[in-house]
Amino acid sequence: MKIYRTTDYQEMSRTAAMILAAQIHLKPDCVLGLATGSTPIGTYEELVRQYQAGHLDFSQVKSANLDEYRGLTRDNDQSYYYFMQENLFRHVNIDPANTFIPDGSQPDPDAECSRYEAVLAQLGGVDLQILGLGHNGHIGFNEPADAFAKATHCVDLTRSTIEANRRFFEKEEDVPRQAYTMGVGTIMRAKKILLLVSGEGKAAILREAVAGPVTPRVPASILQFHPDVTVIADEAALAQLDA
Ligand code: F6R
Repeated sequence: MKIYRTTDYQEMSRTAAMILAAQIHLKPDCVLGLATGSTPIGTYEELVRQYQAGHLDFSQVKSANLDEYRGLTRDNDQSYYYFMQENLFRHVNIDPANTFIPDGSQPDPDAECSRYEAVLAQLGGVDLQILGLGHNGHIGFNEPADAFAKATHCVDLTRSTIEANRRFFEKEEDVPRQAYTMGVGTIMRAKKILLLVSGEGKAAILREAVAGPVTPRVPASILQFHPDVTVIADEAALAQLDA
């Protein structure tokens, strides 16, 4: 695991965007694994800037998102589908037919999760996966549990995740209680992983994830077993580690 220390959120975002851009230059038809949430927004902004400056071409890039709320339709402004359109896809020349996200409007979890695993298999796997880190150590929506989930599945969100995501919704009752997410096994199959972490609120869980025991109680800790993980974190998030 390589740990890359940045001074702040902006530098974390620029660094992550540089690595994503290098991936696209090296393999123009690469498969990017994408995340939503607050953490990657600056990275996506930087990628859009590079595209607008004529330095990046997404025309052959394919993408697969980690997760989606169960029960939200794509036009819901809190769906991850909507998030991706707003923060990246509609600003660059990615082909919408090459972007994949679990479909939260599908009511049958088993059918939707197997469909998504088949999509990922057909893409031939993820070349570069971006991850954020949940306050409880989740990656994707793999919440602390007794075992690591292997494949895409439907998950009950924990109270702490519902509270963390409350800020995006009008009322707490509006926050979906379930999500479809790639499993930890799915995530671990990515060839390369970038874990982005910012802010002092994540310092304790980042220490547990990268230096604590590997346990499904801290799902991100499994990344210690992946052969190619780069953590890009700002000083505030690294405050409890001497990286
Ligand atoms: C989002 C996702 C989540 C977030 C995590 C951190 O697609 O899979 O695991 O990365 O909840 O969220 P933020 O970045 O909002 O702190």
